[in-house]
Amino acid sequence: MNDRIGDPLTRVDGPAKVTGRAPYAAEFEVPNLCHAVMVRSTVPAGAIASIDSAAVKRMPGVLLVMTHENAPKLPKEGRGAVNPPAGREVSLLQEATVRYNGEPIAVVVAETLEQATEAAAALLVSYGPADAVLDFEKSKQKLEPAKMTRGEPQKKWGDAQAALASAAVKIDRVYRTPFEFHNPMEPHGTIAHWKGDELTLYDATQYVDGVRNTVSKTLGIAPEKVRVVCQYTGGGFGCKGSTWSHVMLCAMAAKKAGRPVKLILQRPQMFGPVGARPITEQHLVLGARRDGKLVAVRDEIVTPTSIFENWAEPAGQPVHSLYAYPNGATDQKVSRMNIGTPTFMRAPGECTGTFALESAMDELAYALDMDPLQLRLINHADVDPSNGKPWSSKKLRECYEDAARRFGWSKRNPKPGSMREGNWLVGWGMATATYPAHRMEAKASATLNADGTYLIRSGTQDLGTGTYTICSQVAAETLGVDVRKIRFELGDTRYPKAPVSGGSMTAASVGPAVRAACLALKDKMAKGGKAPLTAEGKAEGPPQDEAQQKYAERSFGALFGEVRIDADLGMIRVPRVVATYSVGRVLNAKTGKSQFEGGIVWGIGQALMEEGVLDKRTGRVVNGNLAEYHVPVNADVGSIEVAWVEENDTEFNDLGARGIGEIGITGVAAMIANAVYHATGKRIRDLPITLDKLL
Ligand code: MOS
Repeated sequence: MNDRIGDPLTRVDGPAKVTGRAPYAAEFEVPNLCHAVMVRSTVPAGAIASIDSAAVKRMPGVLLVMTHENAPKLPKEGRGAVNPPAGREVSLLQEATVRYNGEPIAVVVAETLEQATEAAAALLVSYGPADAVLDFEKSKQKLEPAKMTRGEPQKKWGDAQAALASAAVKIDRVYRTPFEFHNPMEPHGTIAHWKGDELTLYDATQYVDGVRNTVSKTLGIAPEKVRVVCQYTGGGFGCKGSTWSHVMLCAMAAKKAGRPVKLILQRPQMFGPVGARPITEQHLVLGARRDGKLVAVRDEIVTPTSIFENWAEPAGQPVHSLYAYPNGATDQKVSRMNIGTPTFMRAPGECTGTFALESAMDELAYALDMDPLQLRLINHADVDPSNGKPWSSKKLRECYEDAARRFGWSKRNPKPGSMREGNWLVGWGMATATYPAHRMEAKASATLNADGTYLIRSGTQDLGTGTYTICSQVAAETLGVDVRKIRFELGDTRYPKAPVSGGSMTAASVGPAVRAACLALKDKMAKGGKAPLTAEGKAEGPPQDEAQQKYAERSFGALFGEVRIDADLGMIRVPRVVATYSVGRVLNAKTGKSQFEGGIVWGIGQALMEEGVLDKRTGRVVNGNLAEYHVPVNADVGSIEVAWVEENDTEFNDLGARGIGEIGITGVAAMIANAVYHATGKRIRDLPITLDKLL
């Protein structure tokens, strides 16, 4: 049997997915459905001067052209809705102002998708001109303090300035990462269906309860009147963690049209109005003694945000938590650009931050003539350096040891360019991975049916990560029954409330709630309860009072990899990556392995391919489609050998699991950049590492 916690149980939702019986948001059948297409601005700033709705309204099949001239007026205080990640400052056709190129400015509804698409393309809009900031370099002339969703924008301990001034060895570098876009295979999309004053939304989301709260607050209706359903999410990666404009626009259009409306974003529409990872510029200074011990680190970060919301990529996090040093200073600022507001993207902060810190550590290792693994062991943080708390559990030393051995790191000749094989320049690099452990309050219910099967429910989400599967395993093990007796249902605001499936927290939050519900049901059964019998369970979030928290909670990993670079063409291949993680208990060896591998594949994309290019004249993302925004395909990925150390972090939660959704991408770009340096002697400090930078 493969049904106990940790076993490699094959996805329980697999058969439904491959046979087309797993409905995604766009696939729900609703009678009398009509189709909406969102229209976006073609200028980055200014105001709409005229919009020719009347001509489009006369086109075949058109039912509604909704613009700022006729959109329902919304209660002002509700807009922007609840706190991120549930709600953002969005574009709801309340005024003529345009704030970025690609901002939603109208919705066209027609009988068929083809009619709506044609009509949307025919909508003529003219604009009054205005200045826009479209160049990150220019935007930096005016910096503002960053508002952080995680961590503090400024942090100081010890005296970094003095320690750096007297440090024996110093690395002082600027690292840059570009705009990156999430690109889940399933686009964002919503079906809105009103029955009287009750609204049902079928939405592609990471957070059904967040959609409900945001929509109810924005439209000024009671949360009980809104039901949100999302049984399957075709990838999220952070962009589906917030409720963006199109969700409310779909509900508004459905109300106005008096019909259920389906609004699915076209692929190019996902470059702008639904978030991106912002550019990061990280000025990092490391100071060390000759023996490799770090004495101080300073990190000055600038990331651009939109002109209407202050969202900052928390890239300083790794500096706060990865290595031990007595003096530190981080300072994060934002600049303003006419872009859609950036957002969480897989491992926000750690993904960009580890590129800078782990590249700089490699540079320091070369400056010291020391093995980069040795340098990391010397500076290993035995407690959380930012607050002195002990870790709930940390097995990073074991990760380094295991991955280095499996990779064969001891055979490396550290000299750049020394491992050439024919026309291939071969390089070996390493880096550390890290991501914090999060959990929040979650609820679940467990029901014993008359036929002896069990129904478990929680209003959580499965982004393709394996929530259905691991929750079924937790229930089967807790109840002591075969997993085939378990049916787990999720993705409905009618089910017990669960948090956003973000921050890698679903397993660590919902898993314990499922366990609690099953234990409560067992208790009722033991007391003689007869089917049908239902019990509720709840897992607590972290204590509100910071001081009550005894432990620092974070996951780690060690990455080793090889690159091969064509000496004439600069073409870069990544034939092999070896990684070992310390993430607490892994609840399913098969879906867990897939999470790590998927993260590493994305890390290869971040290292070598991904870059959203903004046209400096128009503010459009010029490669806003999957043909030109490059991500790795099978041929770009070599062997990936992941493992994890045995660990059971019961200080963190009673399942011992810290969650694994995001850590896989962290450290990968630095590991590859470090391997590229080892192969070529060229240090690339701005991603992606494309071949023009190597020639
Ligand atoms: Mo993740 S970027 O917190 O959805």
